[in-house]
Amino acid sequence: MDYSDSRHKPHIIGKVFIAVFLIVLCILITKKSPDPSGASLLSLHVPGATHVLVTGGAGYIGSHAVLRLLKDSYRVTVVDNLSRGNIGAIKILQALFPEPGRLQFIYADLGNARAVNKIFAENTFDAVMHFAAVAYVGESMLEPLRYYHNITANTLVVLEAMAAHGVKTLIYSSTCATYGEPEKMAITEETPQVPINPYGKAKKMAEDIILDFSKNSDMAVMILRYFNVIGSDPEGRLGEAPRPELREHGRISGACFDAALGIIPGLKVKGTDYPTRDGTCIRDYIDVTDLVDAHVKALDKAKPRRVGIYNVGTGKGITVKEFVEACKKATGADIKVEYLSRRPGDYAEVYSDPSKINRELNWTAHYTDLEKSLSIAWRWQKSHRNGYGSP
Ligand SMILES: NC(=O)c1ccc[n+]([C@@H]2O[C@H](COP(=O)([O-])OP(=O)(O)OC[C@H]3O[C@@H](n4cnc5c(N)ncnc54)[C@H](O)[C@@H]3O)[C@@H](O)[C@H]2O)c1
Ligand SMILES: *[C@@H]1O[C@H](CO)[C@@H](O)[C@H](O)[C@H]1NC(C)=O
Ligand SMILES: *[C@@H]1O[C@H](CO)[C@@H](O)[C@H](O)[C@H]1NC(C)=O
Ligand SMILES: *[C@@H]1O[C@H](CO)[C@@H](O)[C@H](O)[C@H]1NC(C)=O
Repeated sequence: MDYSDSRHKPHIIGKVFIAVFLIVLCILITKKSPDPSGASLLSLHVPGATHVLVTGGAGYIGSHAVLRLLKDSYRVTVVDNLSRGNIGAIKILQALFPEPGRLQFIYADLGNARAVNKIFAENTFDAVMHFAAVAYVGESMLEPLRYYHNITANTLVVLEAMAAHGVKTLIYSSTCATYGEPEKMAITEETPQVPINPYGKAKKMAEDIILDFSKNSDMAVMILRYFNVIGSDPEGRLGEAPRPELREHGRISGACFDAALGIIPGLKVKGTDYPTRDGTCIRDYIDVTDLVDAHVKALDKAKPRRVGIYNVGTGKGITVKEFVEACKKATGADIKVEYLSRRPGDYAEVYSDPSKINRELNWTAHYTDLEKSLSIAWRWQKSHRNGYGSP
């Protein structure tokens, strides 16, 4: 009321002084108090207990990787800004591994270099599994900048933070979309990379940045190029739960479950005149349990100054018609299928040659029964109609 009165100034200065004192006191107290999430325990190196930073750990593949790492006694910090992931997945993981110092969740945006640097300064990571990204081919055609920003630029931020803080092992999530439309199947790691959409290009650029950096550093790098990922935790604790608004960009397994649940009227199969055994496109479907196994093996075998690039697929091509049949059996639903003409940009056949990862990492896909993988995922979908929200 009397803010202009100069006689009150000393009074105000006194108040400001007390306020500053209280704030400093609060900061000191919070710093000293034991952290309920066990975060303080993750700021120290513990011999024999590798601490892995999992970016995008609230997402579909990232959350499955976190579960596997925790089961294998790794310590894990998840960084995710929940733009596409689910806090529900993190809560389930925290309930499974409540011991202090096992799992820490940090809400942050990888596009924010200052925030990322702070996270690296306050923790001691031994390795990074970098899953965080946007990951829909169709969306990447409509919003390319979103892809270059959140894939390429953010990977640079992560890499710079790793370099600045001496974190020397990186396992990078790449994709078969970096190969584009190869003339020859099966795809090996030597198949030329000529991506044909912004998603594939953004991932290829991120790979190039990582590879160039690694040439002149002692970093251990493993780049895993996944084929089409399906399935979920066989024990039913985690599943795939993309935002409803991303449904239109969704992948075939999600569409199949949505159709079985009656959320969408049916499946639209685009293209029945491809030069394949039944005219529909052929893809290589890799179960997420096998995929995260590849990550753990890659982490285990990562060596300073070495780069490993591996396809992660089954090596077996499955047609869309075969996929739909397996999905009908797995869900028991009589899914309506509409056959339409080709969608531009789809190629007839994509499948991997996984012999390199077989040979060098002793990894093989075990969950190769498509119907079984889909049954496991369906069980979760059926009991989580609203994803990680209330059932
Ligand atoms: N799903 C597939 O079939 C497939 C195939 C090949 C490669 N990949 C790659 O695997 C990785 C994981 O894919 P997914 O299917 O689990 O996707 P997802 O969308 O379920 O998970 C991505 C996670 O990253 C987080 N994220 C995104 N941008 C972020 C940011 N700026 N800061 C912090 N967190 C951010 C999201 O919130 C989400 O939790 C991606 O790199 C993707 O390109 C996926
Ligand atoms: C997540 O990060 C992106 C940048 O990659 C940002 O644009 C978006 O707003 C963030 N979302 C949330 C919920 O923080
Ligand atoms: C990605 O980047 C764009 C900026 O190009 C931003 O608008 C968007 O929110 C970002 N995040 C996600 C998750 O898409
Ligand atoms: C390779 O993996 C199999 C299990 O899949 C295991 O039995 C075998 O001992 C491993 N071989 C080597 C050389 O590690």
